[in-house]
Amino acid sequence: MADLVELTRDNQIAIVTINNPPVNALSPAVAQGIAHAIDQASRDDSIKAVVLMGAGRTFVAGADIKEFDKITSGQTSRAAGLLPLLLQIENGKPAVAAIHGSAFGGGLELAMATHYRVAAPASQLGQPEVKLGIIPGAGGTQRLPRLVGLAKAVEMCAEGNPISAREALTLGLVDRLIEGNLSAGALQFAREISERPAPKTREREEKLRQPEQHEPLFSGARERVRAKQRGMIAPLAAVDAVEAATQLSFEEGCQLEQKLFRKCLFSDQSKALIHIFFGEREVAKIPDVPKETPVLPINSVAVVGAGTMGGGIAMVFANAGIPVLLKDADQPALVRGLATIEKNYQSSIKRGRFTRQYVDERLKLIQPTLSYDDFGKVDMVVEAVFEGIALKKDVFAQLDRACRKDAILASNTSTLNIDEIASATSRPESVIGTHFFSPANVMRLLEIVRGQRTGKQMIATCMQLAKKLGKIGVLVGNCRGFVGNRMFHHYVREAVFLVEEGASPQAVDQALYDFGMALGPLATGDLAGLDVGWRIRKEYRHLENPAVRQPIVGDRLCELGRYGQKTGAGWYRYDENRRAIADPEVNDLIRKWAIEAGIPQREISATEIVERCIYALLNEGARILEEGVALRSADIDIIYVNGYGFPSYRGGPMWYADTVGVKNVYQRVGDFRARHGELWEPAPLLRRLAEENRTFAGFSRLQPATV
Ligand code: 3HC
Ligand code: NAI
Repeated sequence: MADLVELTRDNQIAIVTINNPPVNALSPAVAQGIAHAIDQASRDDSIKAVVLMGAGRTFVAGADIKEFDKITSGQTSRAAGLLPLLLQIENGKPAVAAIHGSAFGGGLELAMATHYRVAAPASQLGQPEVKLGIIPGAGGTQRLPRLVGLAKAVEMCAEGNPISAREALTLGLVDRLIEGNLSAGALQFAREISERPAPKTREREEKLRQPEQHEPLFSGARERVRAKQRGMIAPLAAVDAVEAATQLSFEEGCQLEQKLFRKCLFSDQSKALIHIFFGEREVAKIPDVPKETPVLPINSVAVVGAGTMGGGIAMVFANAGIPVLLKDADQPALVRGLATIEKNYQSSIKRGRFTRQYVDERLKLIQPTLSYDDFGKVDMVVEAVFEGIALKKDVFAQLDRACRKDAILASNTSTLNIDEIASATSRPESVIGTHFFSPANVMRLLEIVRGQRTGKQMIATCMQLAKKLGKIGVLVGNCRGFVGNRMFHHYVREAVFLVEEGASPQAVDQALYDFGMALGPLATGDLAGLDVGWRIRKEYRHLENPAVRQPIVGDRLCELGRYGQKTGAGWYRYDENRRAIADPEVNDLIRKWAIEAGIPQREISATEIVERCIYALLNEGARILEEGVALRSADIDIIYVNGYGFPSYRGGPMWYADTVGVKNVYQRVGDFRARHGELWEPAPLLRRLAEENRTFAGFSRLQPATV
């Protein structure tokens, strides 16, 4: 304990330093250590004030999230949590929290229990608990409104986004910014306040007294939360808890907060979101590519193809401050690509995301070209030309001639074989897939595709680069569609089958939207362009087994030129604002085609729609996991939450299967197999885990994803 929390002194000031790397999480042992140090300081009459600070890179990033599982599984009770410690601090000698890095969650709650807060200008303060499916559980919902006012407190607790130290200063959450040496500044501050009465946050009521504003404020907050965090229970609980600060005493407010905190903590949503939190960090860990693997510096790149993806990818690099050569085959395509980039930046300016000056600086980093002449200067190339193996091989053969030997050659292909692309070069170890998602400058996911011979250095470099680009990189194996699209294919197939069997496109999309998907599968198809899948299906038709049912109505729509939003019509009609409108004409056509094909028509429930689509998705996920195309079930979950709009509060498809129960899923898949045929053959891993009563999360193949 002594090393987790250290007590030192500078004349009459006690210094309590928390030292629990990497983020000084408030584990029970740390809390005990702080309590002990505060107790010692209180017994020493020569101590006039206390400075509380964090060693290393941050103040305190919150309670120890790993502890939550111990509470919900009954290993520990920790009913009172941090509340007694915070009261001890608040009732004690004048205390100053000296904040750098993050004061998050329990960290901010700790700081609010001290009497004053000073902060380094770059630090961040927040109550991010809702992102873990819980609410502040150590008085945060009661102390924060007393310091920053109700409106800001409800926003911070319900949305979970941090604020800067400067904003905290303006709001009264921080009392002074310390430029330069934080501990020296904090000590100076502590000396200044050591003789003054110590204000207790819990007694500060002035910012709670605007009763006429309460009703609109809280009903507005609930409305925002329902729209922005659809389906999530914690944000609404956070609003309730902050509202309690206006209705109850501090002690009663804390009791209500505890009740709501525990309700959220024991929910499936919280378990799922905590799984996502750790999953997002886990995906960076690749068993045979250790952390120490040397990485190549990526200070300049080239992008080949200035279309939808190439343009977006160029923006991603420019936004990270990396200069980009953007090449296309001819001048009109290049001009078109640059115009789209400019238009996308314009809309970011309009939405207040970027300033004109920021955009001008980014645009200067994008250098258009029609030749490979300057490719010898770049550290990495991302190819994003049309999807066709012959063209891709031709481009890679040219890159092989034009680029330096240590350059990374990456392809943004969504379906093609990375090894075959690599075979067009003399250096397959330098070839890798970097599969960005559309729109590339918005979507967080980056699938990094490992070929048979891709070098470990390339993998380590791309994983690190993903972080620098603000993306979440997930390493996947080389197979058609990799992880995300390979699974998605099965999901969309079922959606179309359901429409053919009698459900309307609206009913299918609505059921999955209500399940929590950002957009229904058919509306997603309309957005991406139905022709893309249609062309791919035509190319691979010779591989289909004529005895196995294939979806038909999607292709028929394409034959009518209904490609989705780009042609103003697909599964839906679109008005000039690209709003989807149900189209009775299409619904009639679908019925007619289905009946002509002899498909029996029936009523289909929302439950069946969700089960058919989601179980088809995760059945394929199970195959992918068993083959080692994904390293862990969490990798699949992270791909789906960040690339496909799967609801984070359900933890991704594989976690969802664990929540429903692998056995139950297996049983339903078996029912569907009996009713709908071999496309529903249960994945061997699904069967095995069901029979052995195990979970996907508990299964880790952890072999290199090289399939
Ligand atoms: N508890 C346990 N472990 C934590 C943690 C926490 N609160 N916060 C971070 N970690 C771990 C991570 O899992 C990671 O572990 P690993 O190296 O083994 O993978 C390591 O610390 C470093 O974290 P990051 O990779 O995320 O480091 P970054 O520098 O990128 O980010 C951070 C730092 C911004 C602090 C980020 O880690 C973060 O946002 N942490 C979570 C903050 C949070 O949600 N706090 C609230 C907790 S709940 C709470 O406090 C309840 C209270 O009200 C009672
Ligand atoms: P696109 O059709 O919008 O753009 C392709 C661009 O490549 C065009 O500007 C074209 O002129 C250019 N081009 C063609 N041959 C070239 C050559 N020899 N040299 C230089 N430029 C050349 O295509 P899109 O949608 O951007 O797709 C590009 C790649 O990204 C494909 O491999 C696709 O599968 C993949 N992808 C597409 C996604 C999407 O949603 N559109 C999502 C993820 C990956």
